[in-house]
Amino acid sequence: MGRMTTKYLREKGVDVVAAYVRTTEGKDFSAPELQGVRICRPDEPFEPFGADIALMTHCSRLADLFEPAAKAARAGLDVLTIAEDAFEPFYIDSETARARELDAIFRANGRTLASVGVQDTFWFAQPLSFLASVQRLDRIIGRNICDLSAFGSAGQHAGQMGLTADEFHAQGHGAVSDHRGIFEVALRPLCRALGLAVLSTKVTNEPVLAEADMPVARLGRTIRKGTTCGMMERVVFELQGGVVAEGQFIMRFLPEGEGAFNEWVVEGLPGMNMRTDNFHGDVITCASLVNRVRDVMDAEPGFLSVDQLRAPRYQPALARRN
Ligand SMILES: NC(=O)c1ccc[n+]([C@@H]2O[C@H](COP(=O)([O-])OP(=O)(O)OC[C@H]3O[C@@H](n4cnc5c(N)ncnc54)[C@H](OP(=O)(O)O)[C@@H]3O)[C@@H](O)[C@H]2O)c1
Repeated sequence: MGRMTTKYLREKGVDVVAAYVRTTEGKDFSAPELQGVRICRPDEPFEPFGADIALMTHCSRLADLFEPAAKAARAGLDVLTIAEDAFEPFYIDSETARARELDAIFRANGRTLASVGVQDTFWFAQPLSFLASVQRLDRIIGRNICDLSAFGSAGQHAGQMGLTADEFHAQGHGAVSDHRGIFEVALRPLCRALGLAVLSTKVTNEPVLAEADMPVARLGRTIRKGTTCGMMERVVFELQGGVVAEGQFIMRFLPEGEGAFNEWVVEGLPGMNMRTDNFHGDVITCASLVNRVRDVMDAEPGFLSVDQLRAPRYQPALARRN
């Protein structure tokens, strides 16, 4: 994500002065988008570059974001990240103290921290504008299908494939993690923007079963019909006024010819859906991040949620202000 983001920034006229990388060994830094960019180790200071903003694409969790983000704020930089757990600064769990401390550090330094990405454009702005055409909302379901074949070997969950539903649960794959779920975090700014308080939350991990025998090249074997070709993390929010909001994050191997997609289904008046095929998650993530640079630089100080920023939009170009 870091490399693609650097390329997109430069294409929009941003002066990228430095790229911070954890390991340099065995990596090729000869790509055109890295020419003129100083390659730095994480412990090098930010101050010498006189930059406006740091984009952080290295992590998902607040524990990993905390130190570089705090360092950036103290060096006078805004921070924009794709760390999934930072999408909802007001989430109450074991990470809350860390989030509050980040908020205090950013406020004290007059800088802004926000997390964007697919969550911002596809799971917040898109359903929010879609719902503006609805007279009565009973239930909204967000469904995102990721193709496991596109993941690296560590992300393929090979050990969880080819199991019956009973085997999936017996082996403990249905157990819910004690960590923030992806939609569990991502749907909260949407619920808040709709003005509907969350009354209860239920998270489940469910097997996704193959509809037919499915040869999977990345696994080097065939997944049999009726056995697992993926899993779904489902979150169901019961909201004020009897409204239900549901998120289905589905990671699966797809049958030949099918691709990843994102869909919103609305039950109410009217009942309707909005589906995006050809869902290029990597491009979408980096483009969403780059298009938000100006909004974060213009925002109030603190650790903010996207519902505290202006509505996201396409930015044809980004120029340095000073
Ligand atoms: N919000 C969204 O829409 C969204 C979408 C996609 C991905 N993500 C998240 O974004 C993160 C990056 O995804 P990815 O696919 O690019 O992962 P990746 O291929 O594993 O890349 C992460 C990179 O960050 C480097 N890194 C780790 N800690 C670092 C540090 N302290 N300082 C500098 N560099 C550091 C790693 O270095 P090494 O080479 O040393 O390991 C690696 O090169 C993941 O956590 C992912 O879950 C979010």
